[in-house]
Amino acid sequence: MAKITAPRGTRDLLPEDAPAWNRVEALARDLSRRYAFERIETPLFERVELFSRGLGESSDAVEKEMFRVSGATGSEEERAEWALRPEPTAGIVRAFIEHGMHVRPGPLRLTMIGPMFRYDRPQAGRYRQFSQWDVEVIGDPGPAVDAELIELAHRFFAELGLTDAVAHVNSIGDAACRPAYRQALVDYFALHSDRLTDDSRRRLEVNPLRVLDDKQLAPDLAEGAPKSVDHLCDDCRAHFRAVLDLLDALELRHVVDHRLVRGLDYYTRTAFEFVIAGREGQQQAIGGGGRYDGLAELLGGRSTPAIGFGIGLDRSVLAMEEQAVALPPVAPLVAVIGTGDDHADRLRVAGELRTAGIAVRPDGSDRKLGKQLEAASKAGAGWAVIVGEELATGRIGLKDLSSGAQETVTLNEVPDRISGRS
Ligand code: HAM
Repeated sequence: MAKITAPRGTRDLLPEDAPAWNRVEALARDLSRRYAFERIETPLFERVELFSRGLGESSDAVEKEMFRVSGATGSEEERAEWALRPEPTAGIVRAFIEHGMHVRPGPLRLTMIGPMFRYDRPQAGRYRQFSQWDVEVIGDPGPAVDAELIELAHRFFAELGLTDAVAHVNSIGDAACRPAYRQALVDYFALHSDRLTDDSRRRLEVNPLRVLDDKQLAPDLAEGAPKSVDHLCDDCRAHFRAVLDLLDALELRHVVDHRLVRGLDYYTRTAFEFVIAGREGQQQAIGGGGRYDGLAELLGGRSTPAIGFGIGLDRSVLAMEEQAVALPPVAPLVAVIGTGDDHADRLRVAGELRTAGIAVRPDGSDRKLGKQLEAASKAGAGWAVIVGEELATGRIGLKDLSSGAQETVTLNEVPDRISGRS
């Protein structure tokens, strides 16, 4: 029979991948705690309209990459109704409005870790299902929080051991100054439309900022294009200046990137992406975010300033592998083995060690001791607890599987012995 394989653009996380993923997720959770973010979870699928309104009809995520879903008996209408979430921000803001969270003492600091879905052409570092660590601060106009979030992302990469992540920052203005900037881009690119890709010519009509995002845009055309920072209104300019001053004051490595416009339409003012130094050309941002002061209103709520970021966990793990980042040592594993039909004793001893917080793998077989020891080593155990007659006096054999040294100790002594304290 033909084998069934995982869908294209998805990956299985196998046990050997787990240590890096555990590290990334644990750090995200710990930083969320240290930066006083509270957990929020929203559904994996939402109304299509949430994304088309929130992220913009002309964003790639909506126009090309929407992952539609329907029930087993789903009609065409149902299929048109729901999509797997391509990103978390729209769902979080929907929940913020739906639960009247604006009455809570703000600004709200919300965080989520979970899978996102974009029906894109898969390639290295680009998947149809991928995970993000997302943080959002809702109800804070900045600019201090803008710098705080960039500092948080910086710290995530630094504590992970990815010391060469650089923040690219830009300001793309707001409803007051964006129209004039859009027009300046349209006027400029219209003069060079013969040098644009079909995609960019189309974007020029619906979303001219995204032309700057075209990877095939000729460098001289990109260089000569109007810069958003030259078209900011006074308020946006002051905001951006303040963010840059704070980044300088905090000595956070950053570059002002005039081509950075972000792929989702909800952004206003501060926009940023994190890129691994030396890999800029590949445009594989490892994280990105920005301010979205107009999104709550766009989704039917009251006007609420907000900012957040999403860090790609798959790309973080890939970067850790590429740079051979060291992982923290794992806690020692203990195998519990025995000499005969003593499984009740083995399970009892395993239970006591687990109560003491130790990771334990009892051997459930009746094989010879030697075979059980071999199996324990192969399974990665550092120690074997050998259950025998001495158990009657509360003692067991403890074997160090790396040195081969063995002694008889009481069960209470095991935790200290294996953690090397005595
Ligand atoms: P985004 O830039 O679309 O922003 O995605 C954030 C990160 O998710 C990217 O920098 C990348 O590391 C990862 N990512 C995106 N697409 C893929 C993919 N197909 N495969 C693997 N990794 C991917 C957002 O999603 C915004 N919601 C961020 C945000 C939060 N802005 C404000 N608040």
